[in-house]
Formats: sequence, C-alpha cells, structure tokens
Amino acid sequence: MITRPERVTVRVPAKINLHLGVGPLRADGYHELTTVFQAVGLYDELTVSPAPALHVKVTGEGSGEEPHDAAGTVGHVPRDATNLAARALTAVTARVGASSAYEIALHKGIPVAGGLAGGSADAAGALLAGLSLTGAELSRGELDRLAADLGSDVPFALHGGTALGTGRGERLTPVLGHGRYSWVLALASGGLSTPDVFDELDRQRARAHAAGHVQVVADHTPVVAALRTGEPEQLGRVLHNDLQPAALALAPELQGVLDAAHDAGALGAIVSGSGPTVMALARDEQDAVRLAGRIAESGTCRAVRVADGPVHGARVVSRTGR
Ligand code: C5P
Repeated sequence: MITRPERVTVRVPAKINLHLGVGPLRADGYHELTTVFQAVGLYDELTVSPAPALHVKVTGEGSGEEPHDAAGTVGHVPRDATNLAARALTAVTARVGASSAYEIALHKGIPVAGGLAGGSADAAGALLAGLSLTGAELSRGELDRLAADLGSDVPFALHGGTALGTGRGERLTPVLGHGRYSWVLALASGGLSTPDVFDELDRQRARAHAAGHVQVVADHTPVVAALRTGEPEQLGRVLHNDLQPAALALAPELQGVLDAAHDAGALGAIVSGSGPTVMALARDEQDAVRLAGRIAESGTCRAVRVADGPVHGARVVSRTGR
C-alpha cells in the first residue's frame, strides 16, 4: 500500500542573474527579458503539514522582531492567503482536486525583497510540497504553467542550475557550463520593490529617448560563452544587469557596496536582479570567504553570505509518514 506523507520539507535555492537584459515594456505590463539565471546555495525551507485551515508561519530572514502591520505582514512576508507560498499551495491543490488545509512553516534563509527571488522560491517549494502531500502527479509542462502564473521567476526556482530565461523570464532553456562559482552576496537593510525598479528604468529610458539616445538591449552571449570556459575570471568580466542603473537611482548607497567589492578584488560585482542585494564573484571558495570579510569590514551592507552555484532547484528533503 502506498502511504502518503503527513509532513513534507522542501528546500529551495535563491537565484541570481548573471545577465539581465531588459527589453521593451509589453502590453501586459511585463518587460521582455533575456536573462541568464543561476541557482545559488542560499535556501528557504518549507515544512508543510495538515491543519484545520491553510495558514503560514514564518521564521528566519525578514521574519524576526520587526514591527508588523494590521494585515499581519511580518517584515515583508505576509502570513495570510496573499503569501506566495499559500497562493501556490491553493493553486496546486485546486488543480488536483484536493483540500488546501495545510500549515506552511516557512523558514527564510533568502532575504525578502532582495532581488534573489525569495518569494518565487517559496511558491516553487509549495507547489512541490502540495504534489508530494496529495500524491498527485502533473506533467512538467502543467507544473511549469502553474509556476509561471504565480510569478516570472517561479519556473526557474523549480528547475535550478543555470538557464537562459526569455519572455517574462518564465521560458527556460538550460545553459551548458562547466565548473562551480563562488559568490559573495552583500545583503542590504531594506528591500526594493521589483515593479518600482522596472518603473524607474522606464523613466530613465524615456528621458534618454527624449534626449535622442538610441537604446540597445545588452547581449547575453558573452555570459554564455564565459560559462562554457568555466573560468570565473572570464565570467566576472561580463556580468551585466540592465536594471542596475534604476536600482542605484532608488538606492544610491549600493554604489558603496559595489565599490567595496571591486576594491576587495572581486572578479566582478553587480546588483542582483532588481536589488538591493549585490553579488560579487570570487576566484574560489577560500577567496569568497576573504572577499566576504573585506566587504563586511567596509560597513556598506547589513550582512554578507557566501554561496556556491549552480545548485539544484526545489527538492523534497524529508517526508514523514503517518
Ligand atoms: O512576475 P513577478 O510577479 O515576479 O513580477 C513582479 C513585477 O516585476 C511585475 O508586476 C512587473 O512590474 C515587474 N516585471 C516586469 N517584467 C518582467 C518581470 C517582472 O516588468 N519580465
């Protein structure tokens, strides 16, 4: 007899963008992207178990003693049905005709609103936990569609590794590469809203257009070529983020973090996604520890983390039976 697990724990990595090329704003409010994602070893963990009704408990990064508002927002992580993990669990259980009465105990290792797709990671984790708990199966295509409906980065959080993302970022093609990369992630005190950063980029581009500048979307092929060599020195030279000028306009203090990373000998340093996390590439693991120490000493960021990439996407790490 097949017994269904009573409780499932899923681990999901953060993502960084080695290249983020932002194209025009589409009629649906999203921008056409060409991006190279890499999953890195900084994780959120979700433990999902049956409960009288769907609810979310949050611990870890962004959940602590910060004051919370009447809507129950702790830090920036909502604990009600608007939480992306709760929405994902509702979507997957509805799709397979099962109850959504579960508790989601969310342990955040990925900073909230940090440009590392933490919310998307939680959604991907809840999709996987929902399937595991109900014993239902969906084709990869169906699961990817559910994921993309929840957010542009959710399909990548399921897949992991290194991948080219097109469309809004949800259409994925694996990128062949060699080697592992050691990153230092410099975490900021506050968060940046992704829509605000995209809006700022639109304003900057409108001004540049009015001034007669021709807009060119950055080419992602140097990053793909560098990944094929497996040489961190080559990758460090070609890291690129079209959102960086907009993130810097909204959070000018990030320039200090980028300068500290360059001064400390990073092979490359850019804002991660829509920020405010800054990602710096080291030569190897040992160099990453040294670089992290130097960036921390500079006093330009809240905390530093060392993370390797690429790593796997969302994975079930434990199942407890009845
Ligand atoms: O898809 P997701 O919910 O993560 O996107 C958050 C917001 O980021 C969108 O509402 C949109 O403002 C912006 N975005 C965008 N173009 C994309 C992805 C996200 O403008 N390709």
